[in-house]
Amino acid sequence: MTNINRQFLLASRPVGMVNETDLEYTETPIPEPGAGEVLIRTTYLSLDPSMRGQMENRADYVAPLQIGDVMRAGGTGEIVASNNDKFPVGTLVQGTLGMQDYLVSDGKSAPFRAFTDVTPEEALGVLGGTGMTAYFGLLDLGEPKAGDVVVISGAAGATGSVAGQIAKIKGCTVFGMAGSDEKCKWLIDELGFDGAINYKTQNVADELDRLCPKGINIYFDNVGGEILDICLARIAMNARIVICGGISRYNAEGPIPGPKNYFNLVFRRARMEGFIVLDYAARFPEAVAEMRGWMNSGQLKQSTTVVNGFEQLPKALIQLFEGFNTGKLMVKTS
Ligand SMILES: NC(=O)c1ccc[n+]([C@@H]2O[C@H](COP(=O)([O-])OP(=O)(O)OC[C@H]3O[C@@H](n4cnc5c(N)ncnc54)[C@H](OP(=O)(O)O)[C@@H]3O)[C@@H](O)[C@H]2O)c1
Repeated sequence: MTNINRQFLLASRPVGMVNETDLEYTETPIPEPGAGEVLIRTTYLSLDPSMRGQMENRADYVAPLQIGDVMRAGGTGEIVASNNDKFPVGTLVQGTLGMQDYLVSDGKSAPFRAFTDVTPEEALGVLGGTGMTAYFGLLDLGEPKAGDVVVISGAAGATGSVAGQIAKIKGCTVFGMAGSDEKCKWLIDELGFDGAINYKTQNVADELDRLCPKGINIYFDNVGGEILDICLARIAMNARIVICGGISRYNAEGPIPGPKNYFNLVFRRARMEGFIVLDYAARFPEAVAEMRGWMNSGQLKQSTTVVNGFEQLPKALIQLFEGFNTGKLMVKTS
């Protein structure tokens, strides 16, 4: 191995759409693990919409990054040197590894956990954070029942594609929204969705009226904005609206208008609720076990878009917001 540790640092806080120049490439020597520490070499890094918010100087459920910090990113890696008996060389780990080839950690400074029974793609995708988000968001907040009409935005992405498949497993009728005809076809042909709307070329309101004449029982929202409003206007009695994310607002400049149709929650005795998947960490094992069973029986498919090359990280982050990915987007770094 060379002695170079490639890193991307936060160079500036994005205004509007994230820019490649908001991240600065640098090379440092590979760090030496101290007492009780391990040296981790990253293998895959995950691209997540929440990274955009962490680049701003705004505290929410995680602390903001400071200019000059290594850009935060979830990932998988392998322990290549160890001064810690619990984590011998060769252990595969998953955690907040950051946009870098190597890091040292005692397990607390950069939290990680060992994994054995999943692939790196599964650890970051269907059996990782986004899969857990789909599972708990849909099941705990959405409370699906057989026959429910479920609508999912961002449906061909990491979270949406898993949420839709789980809704199908639960006997629901599932419609997805995505940004291309190819993605819509994939949702129906490969994942078994009952229908799909290309929100960029079709009239979403008209299509929902056609597909869901009795209204929407569960709306799983990944995008917010106008699509949330259109769905709010079409909820059925006692509907559940799961606020998972709002990607349409993450790169927006200026104040963001609230939903106009929220009062339908009163008329339809409905519930709209947000959540953060980290709050479910203690229950991840039960979710992984159930989802593994669905994967083994062919009911749940994992899909990933893997970009090759550490140097592609900034571009891949932008591409996430441009709809480049189908399923989970990640970069294979080594
Ligand atoms: N609550 C939680 O704990 C939690 C945890 C993880 C993720 N999330 C949220 O879940 C959502 C999905 O995250 P993910 O990791 O699964 O990402 P993802 O869906 O795999 O990737 C983002 C996708 O969003 C779509 N998109 C981009 N800009 C859009 C816009 N303006 N309007 C509509 N769609 C747009 C693109 O697909 P198209 O081609 O369809 O446009 C893109 O592929 C995000 O909002 C994220 O913040 C929440």
